[in-house]
Amino acid sequence: MRTVRTVAELRRRLAPERRGGQRIGLVPTMGHFHEGHLSLMRRAREDTDVVVVSLFVNPTQFRDGEDLASYPRDERRDASLADREGVDLLFVPSAEQVYPAGFDTVVRVGGLTDVLCGDAGRRGHRHFDGVATVVTKLLNIVGPDVAYFGQKDAQQALVIRRLARDLDIPVGVEVCPTVRDPDGLALSSRNSYLTGGERERALALSRALRAADEAVEKGELDARPVLAAARAELDRAGVEPEYLELRSAEDLSPVERVNGSTLLAVAAHVGRARLIDNTVLVSHAGATAPTDHPRGGPG
Ligand code: PAF
Repeated sequence: MRTVRTVAELRRRLAPERRGGQRIGLVPTMGHFHEGHLSLMRRAREDTDVVVVSLFVNPTQFRDGEDLASYPRDERRDASLADREGVDLLFVPSAEQVYPAGFDTVVRVGGLTDVLCGDAGRRGHRHFDGVATVVTKLLNIVGPDVAYFGQKDAQQALVIRRLARDLDIPVGVEVCPTVRDPDGLALSSRNSYLTGGERERALALSRALRAADEAVEKGELDARPVLAAARAELDRAGVEPEYLELRSAEDLSPVERVNGSTLLAVAAHVGRARLIDNTVLVSHAGATAPTDHPRGGPG
């Protein structure tokens, strides 16, 4: 595996591969790899000929006072993990490479970004403008055939699908299952902020999703009791959600009834970690949507 730090070098290295008809896979990351990242790399390794992983802690997607400065960084450890997964190129640009002097462009996806972790949840900060802009840049820099994202960031995945479609970026967007610790906690770089007791409380998020899932399995389809079942788990652990909402898994529009493709999404602060999780609830009324049941184990 080779580590590349400039856009020019990355393009130079990928040009012959592209000319030779090799399929390029991109896994965009902010580093501090865990099994979730590694599962995306494995998937890219299976699907494509040349695997590029980008590692860039993107400042524009952090709100003022959020954890940009303390976000966990360990490039050497990340490089060794990526190498073990058979990654070909690790792209580690500086902030100046990504945002050179005079950079003054914002990619904004409307609608989808007004809810959940978008403007509403971030007190005025357009988190997804930062995500959409950097991902557009990465897609343009790398020119992958397929880019890989995790279902844990379900809203982000929808935003990226939409921007690729709207901007005619010729890339397949693959969304891979959430990876969880055996006790159900969704893997996140921010889990490293949790103390032992906080980690226990954080389990309330996946328990809340499971409680909703069980309510739906028993035939409950109205939003109110399904949300109440989830909320009870958070309350029991003393976790106050930033949001706990049922939305269409396709366009994030609010839903009153679980209808087979319904996203239950939750965000909450536990200690200094802002955690998110979600599941796609499946009604037994003939639904066929893929599930991401928080039952522990990968996916
Ligand atoms: O999911 C992430 O790690 C980031 O939001 C991404 C997609 C790498 C953009 O900075």
